[in-house]
Amino acid sequence: MRRVTLTQYLIEQQRHFGTVSPELRLLIEVVARACKAISHAVSKGPLAGIGDSVGLDNVQGEAQKKLDVIANSVLVEANEWGGQLAAMVSEEMAEPYQIPNRYPKGEFLLLYDPLDGSSNLDVNISVGTIFSVLRCPGNCAEADTSAFLQPGSKQVAAGFAVYGAATILVLSVGNGVVGFTLDRELGSFVMTEERIEIPPETQEFAINASNARNWGAPVKRYIDECLAGKEGPRGKDFNMRWVASMVADVYRILSRGGIFMYPTDAKHKEGRLRLMYEANPMAFIVEQAGGAATDGSQRILDIQPSKLHQRVGVVLGSRNEVERVTRYHTDGGAR
Ligand code: F6P
Repeated sequence: MRRVTLTQYLIEQQRHFGTVSPELRLLIEVVARACKAISHAVSKGPLAGIGDSVGLDNVQGEAQKKLDVIANSVLVEANEWGGQLAAMVSEEMAEPYQIPNRYPKGEFLLLYDPLDGSSNLDVNISVGTIFSVLRCPGNCAEADTSAFLQPGSKQVAAGFAVYGAATILVLSVGNGVVGFTLDRELGSFVMTEERIEIPPETQEFAINASNARNWGAPVKRYIDECLAGKEGPRGKDFNMRWVASMVADVYRILSRGGIFMYPTDAKHKEGRLRLMYEANPMAFIVEQAGGAATDGSQRILDIQPSKLHQRVGVVLGSRNEVERVTRYHTDGGAR
């Protein structure tokens, strides 16, 4: 494969399709640069005390790790001065972060989860950064909460980095999905997957089975049928994986297919994952890779958000499987 860097890819997208303006390119490049810094911090492991808790909870009521806070600051500091953004929203900030008056404001809004899966930090399992880019509607001088409350279908770009054995950046600017790997010697993201496509069928599912007693009938039915294997109604054996790091689970699905579910259930009545900076960017990427993403009954990208930090049920991955689970919900889960 031709050695294409992230910058080259973005310039070529603009040249051929006119979809990545210089401002959007700069924004994505700055986010990618921040991801390199976060990757470097994560790779220090216990030497940097990365799994340590700061003794505070974030807006979701989850214990903030030292690195959650560091990753959030890295993204804020990298993105606030360049002039591409009107405001930012992050899992670690209760209110939108306004671009300080000393810097110019731009037309975009950035939403991100700085360190997804951070409960895995202490055990050296992959974590990552998820981001979503929206256009700021109307007058962006003061982009308040309402400016962010747009359905995911309005995203102009979305991506995520996985800090695993290799640091991988997955990106979509609305023209398919590409994967880049961080070349640590050169310090640049180099394209390693030109067109990521999720196979429509799968034999692998990902769900936190410890919630089984709380699942609704449609989810229970789907999982029971998978577990029944060759002898069951699906007529084939299924494998199960659960990394408990959405970035790693979704990257696996992009690589070899599968279905990922964090559905609403009796305990997580509104769902567990966040719509604006987890479910929306992942749904955008999964759809761009030929897969599907619903909240069980509705396409995630069509959901009109009412709150910045709103949660949502998530079913995403291989199209035929997501459609099956969704059908089980819309048919009332009846056998
Ligand atoms: O933010 C959420 C997250 O860490 C995801 O990355 C992951 O999929 C999920 O929570 C794991 O949830 P649980 O702790 O229930 O396994």
